[in-house]
Amino acid sequence: MSKHLIEVEHLRQYFPAGGFGKNKRFVRAVDDVSFYVDKGETLGLVGESGCGKTTTGRTMLRLYEPTGGRFTFDENVIFDVEKKQYADMLPYRKRMQIVFQDPYASLDPRMTVGDIVGEAIDVHKLAANKQERYDQIIHMLERVGLNSEHANRYPHEFSGGQRQRVGIARALAVHPEFIVCDEPISALDVSIQAQVINMFEDLQEQMGLTYLFIAHDLSAVKHISNRIGVMYLGRMVELADSYELVERPLHPYTKSLISAIPVADPKQARESQRIVLEGDVPSPLNPPSGCTFRTRCPYADERCAAEVPKWREVENGHYCACHHIDKCN
Ligand SMILES: Nc1ncnc2c1ncn2[C@@H]1O[C@H](COP(=O)(O)OP(=O)(O)O)[C@@H](O)[C@H]1O
Ligand SMILES: [Mg+2]
Repeated sequence: MSKHLIEVEHLRQYFPAGGFGKNKRFVRAVDDVSFYVDKGETLGLVGESGCGKTTTGRTMLRLYEPTGGRFTFDENVIFDVEKKQYADMLPYRKRMQIVFQDPYASLDPRMTVGDIVGEAIDVHKLAANKQERYDQIIHMLERVGLNSEHANRYPHEFSGGQRQRVGIARALAVHPEFIVCDEPISALDVSIQAQVINMFEDLQEQMGLTYLFIAHDLSAVKHISNRIGVMYLGRMVELADSYELVERPLHPYTKSLISAIPVADPKQARESQRIVLEGDVPSPLNPPSGCTFRTRCPYADERCAAEVPKWREVENGHYCACHHIDKCN
C-alpha cells in the first residue's frame, strides 16, 4: 500500500439550515468526497461557485467540525468521525496552512504586515527572541517578493497582489508542509495572476510543499496541478492526471467545463463542440436524488434518479462517478 501525505475518505459537511426535529434541514455542502494528495504534489480542485470546494479545504483543517468521514495527514488521524477520533490540532496548525481567497477580508486592517506574519511565529513559539522574530518575518516577506520596508505598513497601503503575498508569507511563516490554496488568484487582476501562480510553483519547489489548489475554472489550475478533481454540488465527479482530465474527460460535467475553455486555434475551436448545460445548479439544501448532476445531464435516465453513482477508479488513476460512462464517451 502506498502511503499518501493527505488522505480524505468519505468527507461530509452538512451545515444546519433551520427547522426542528424531523424538519431540521441541512445544506449538504460536501457529501462523501474522497481523494489523496502525495507529498510535493498539487491537486487542483475545480467546480462552480457553491459546489463545496472551500468547505472541503476548511473542514480538512478543522476550521469546521466535520459531519462525517476521515482525514489522515502523514498517517496521523486528524479526524475519524465514525470512530470519534480527533487529533489535538495545535501541532497540525503548524504543518497545514491555508491561503484565503480574499486578500482584502483575510488580513486584519489594524495590524502591520510584520505583525500579521509574526503572529503565527508567536503562536507556535518559533522565535527565541525579538531579533530572531524580526529576521524570520523579513525572510518570509522576501520569499514572497516583499521587503523589510513593507513590515511596518498596514494592509490598506498594499495592492491586491501584494496583500495576497502577505497572506502567503503568513502561511509560510510556520514552515508548513501542506497548504490549502483557496482560489488565491481569483480576486487578483488578470495581469498579475500568472506572477502569483509562478510564485506558488517556485515556493513549492524550494520548500517541498504539497498543495490543494482550489479554483472555480479549469484553465486556472490546469498548469499548476499534477492531478485535478472536479466537484459538482457537494460531490467529486471526476479526478485524474491533469493532462488526462483535460484531454480525455469521462464525466459529462467535466466535458462541459472543458468545452467552455477558450481555445486560441480557430480550427480547433470549430472542431470542439461547446457543451452548454441547461438550467441552474440545484440547491444543496434539496439536492436531486441519485446522481446530483442528472437534472442537467443530457444522458440521464431512471437509474440516475434512483442510484447514487459509485466513485470508482475507471482506469489507472482516473476516477469518475457516473452510471453512463460508456454511453457518453
Ligand atoms: N458556514 C456555512 N454555513 C452554512 N452554509 C454554508 C457555509 N459555508 C458554505 N455554505 C454553503 O455550502 C455550499 C458550498 O459552499 P462553498 O464550500 O463555499 O463552495 P465553493 O467554495 O465551491 O464556492 C454553498 O451552498 C454554501 O452556501
Ligand atoms: Mg470557495
